[in-house]
Amino acid sequence: FRSVGILGTGSYLPEKVLTNHDLEKIVDTSDEWIVKRTGIKERRIADENTATSDLATKAALKALENAGVSAKEIDLIIVGTVTPDMVFPSTACIVQKNIGAEGAAAFDLEAGCSGFLYSLTVAQQFIATGMYEKVLVIGAETLSKIIDWTDRGTCILFGDGAGAVVLGPTEDGMGILSASMGADGEGGKFLKVPAGGSRMPASIKTVEERLHSIRMDGSEVFKFAVRAMNKASLGALELSGYGIEDIDYLVPHQANTRIINSAAKKLKLDNEKVHINLDKVGNMSAASIPVALDEAVRLGKIKKGDLVVMVGFGAGLTWGASVIKW
Ligand code: ACO
Repeated sequence: FRSVGILGTGSYLPEKVLTNHDLEKIVDTSDEWIVKRTGIKERRIADENTATSDLATKAALKALENAGVSAKEIDLIIVGTVTPDMVFPSTACIVQKNIGAEGAAAFDLEAGCSGFLYSLTVAQQFIATGMYEKVLVIGAETLSKIIDWTDRGTCILFGDGAGAVVLGPTEDGMGILSASMGADGEGGKFLKVPAGGSRMPASIKTVEERLHSIRMDGSEVFKFAVRAMNKASLGALELSGYGIEDIDYLVPHQANTRIINSAAKKLKLDNEKVHINLDKVGNMSAASIPVALDEAVRLGKIKKGDLVVMVGFGAGLTWGASVIKW
């Protein structure tokens, strides 16, 4: 199989900032509680005319520019998202049209907050086998559109944004060395949007009962997250042939600093080797990791030759990790 690497990264965040103090005016909460329990101080919110594909398109164009690859060279577009523009067509097809990636295949992948890492691993297979040369992988969300703004247990956590990478063949021994993915459908009940699908189609009742927004058992998800982050990162690392001591940089899913700190502790990593940006952007589900990755690359935190671990967990329940020689 061919080696597959990330040729370029890009990200985009909506301009509007929603601070914890803004949320104090909407629900019974405080900046102090949110910072202490989650680490989040503010998040970005898309305006009413902006959908997920709009953010995804902007991130994709930046990644293409950064990679020096034109949209016409792209063979496949995968968008990891839980907030597609609509049930169909897929958000990936809308992005394909927007960027002018004529003839490229396009589909969405839904794996909760693990959506980007799942998409990355799926994309890798197409290039590794020689079927495709260049694949655009995007994680994009407008979670603000599926939040119950009366539920203080969830509305404080999430934000909107998009991140993208361009994948292509790379020199042997570089690029994506290994990955792990997993799921536990039993835990699906702890984090879901109950209505709007075939189980509970939209009706006046589902709207009145706010069943089109995120329902979450925070403490169950928290316990799962700590276990999943460790399992996924250690599993992928073992497959890569490298050890914990070889990790140069960790890009974790940005859900909660307490979850990230526990994962970092298990991997014996100092704070400066762990990317945290959730204080500014909150949890952007499938967009969290690619946005954090793009930021880390642009800030020079990740350098050529570094061993980078990306790890996440999310609705499904799902988890995933990738080990990359940058
Ligand atoms: N402000 C003030 N008080 C609050 C708030 C709030 N925003 N939210 C909850 N509380 C209260 C609760 O009502 C509870 O009060 P009680 O003891 O009187 O009942 C108290 O705070 C403690 O609540 P817990 O839920 O036990 O608080 P916890 O420390 O577990 O923190 C949190 C909650 C932040 C949600 C945490 O559980 C968490 O981060 N879980 C993981 C969530 C996550 O990562 N979700 C995303 C998954 S990714 C995806 O796929 C979308």
